[in-house]
Amino acid sequence: MSSDMKILVVGSGGREHALVWKIAHDSCSPKLYCAPGNAGTSQLAENIDIKAEDLDGLLSWAKENRPDLTVVGPEIPLCAGLVDLFEAEGLKVFGPRKAAARMEGSKAFAKDIMNAAGVPTGRSCSFTDPDEAIAYANELGAPVVIKADGLAAGKGVIICNTDEEAEQAIRQTMVDKAFGAAGDNLLVEEFLVGEEASILALVDGAHVVMLASSQDHKRALDGDQGLNTGGMGAYSPAPVVQEDMWPFIREKVFGATLEELKKRGITYKGVLYAGLMMTAHGAKVLEFNCRFGDPETQAVLPRIASDLVPALQACADGTLTEELISWRKEPCVCVVMASGGYPGSYEKGKVIAGLEEADAIDDVVVFHAGTDSSNGDVVTSGGRVLGVTALGDDLHAAVDKTYKAIEEIDFDGAHYRKDIAAKALKSSRSSKIEGV
Ligand code: AMP
Ligand code: GLY
Repeated sequence: MSSDMKILVVGSGGREHALVWKIAHDSCSPKLYCAPGNAGTSQLAENIDIKAEDLDGLLSWAKENRPDLTVVGPEIPLCAGLVDLFEAEGLKVFGPRKAAARMEGSKAFAKDIMNAAGVPTGRSCSFTDPDEAIAYANELGAPVVIKADGLAAGKGVIICNTDEEAEQAIRQTMVDKAFGAAGDNLLVEEFLVGEEASILALVDGAHVVMLASSQDHKRALDGDQGLNTGGMGAYSPAPVVQEDMWPFIREKVFGATLEELKKRGITYKGVLYAGLMMTAHGAKVLEFNCRFGDPETQAVLPRIASDLVPALQACADGTLTEELISWRKEPCVCVVMASGGYPGSYEKGKVIAGLEEADAIDDVVVFHAGTDSSNGDVVTSGGRVLGVTALGDDLHAAVDKTYKAIEEIDFDGAHYRKDIAAKALKSSRSSKIEGV
């Protein structure tokens, strides 16, 4: 059944391909647009040549084309107020308004909310003066974490193992402006020890539906070595989030945060992403993001058995219920194939072979992240190029299928981690999706 419904997805990465893919399989069969999209989204949606940061361009396209729903992927347009602009024109959007997106846009604001709401998180203080920041870092004692307040494309967090490193990081951020204006204000935070997990929750202003847990792999190399990246792979569920932790996360992380925002007159709608550290003293929040995670989304969405669009619409309308989302039991694994050199500099335009062969394997989807079409070929156009994703009867099977699919794919310089989900395979813990 095809409908007249029009949906615009904003963004161009693996997360947006996963959103487009999931929505394209919904029973409403909407007409899909993706701005600007990539070579993967172009197979399921009409790519519109407008960048995600071009708020005016997106607004004028939307005023003309009147999408029934717009789903915003990246944080930059959310923090810049795309939702506010669209809503002022009577356009329905999935995502938080500017005031709510500050949960990601300002780490100091997010901390202030967490502290006021009693959300478990590391001790911290925010500063505009480097000397005061250094004094506080010394008081906490190394290791400490220095975080630029504003958006820094995932680069504004520095883990310092000595007091000298902390001083250097504070000066680089505040004085040398290594992250531009994002570092005018910074946070000095206690270093937390544990395993990380991501919980994405759908929120409609009042109700919260937590999605299945997942775990990202941020470092470039196996064994969590090498430089930080945008994320080299993810799997879902993450057994480190044990069954008995869910009520605590629902109430003390999401419930308390949304309550505090409401007290300040801020309604949160869209996805609220909690980056958690599972410490010996329980789950603590490392960060909130105002959007779907990348690559967590690629590992979580294929596990959703129900349609996605009704849940996204319900978030915008304030009618979200648990029943709107149901789950497949199979775990899912996403391994990112990156360009040679990433996360440092890398070349673009490498022809990618074997995509169809990989996609043809049962329960495998190859999500495109940094790809483009050129003379009938799919070529690399970014650091993270593909998110090769598979569901399996168990995590072993999902991992095996993913790496089998990767063997089909080839481009000059490709590199990827060989140990995605290894932590979960080693553990005997059980994980469960709440309510399933
Ligand atoms: P964030 O953007 O705040 O999530 O930080 C990026 C990464 O830095 C996280 O995924 C963690 O690996 C690490 N990190 C951030 N804050 C802390 C902390 N307080 N203690 C230990 N590691 C941290
Ligand atoms: N996977 C980390 C993020 O989306 O910020």
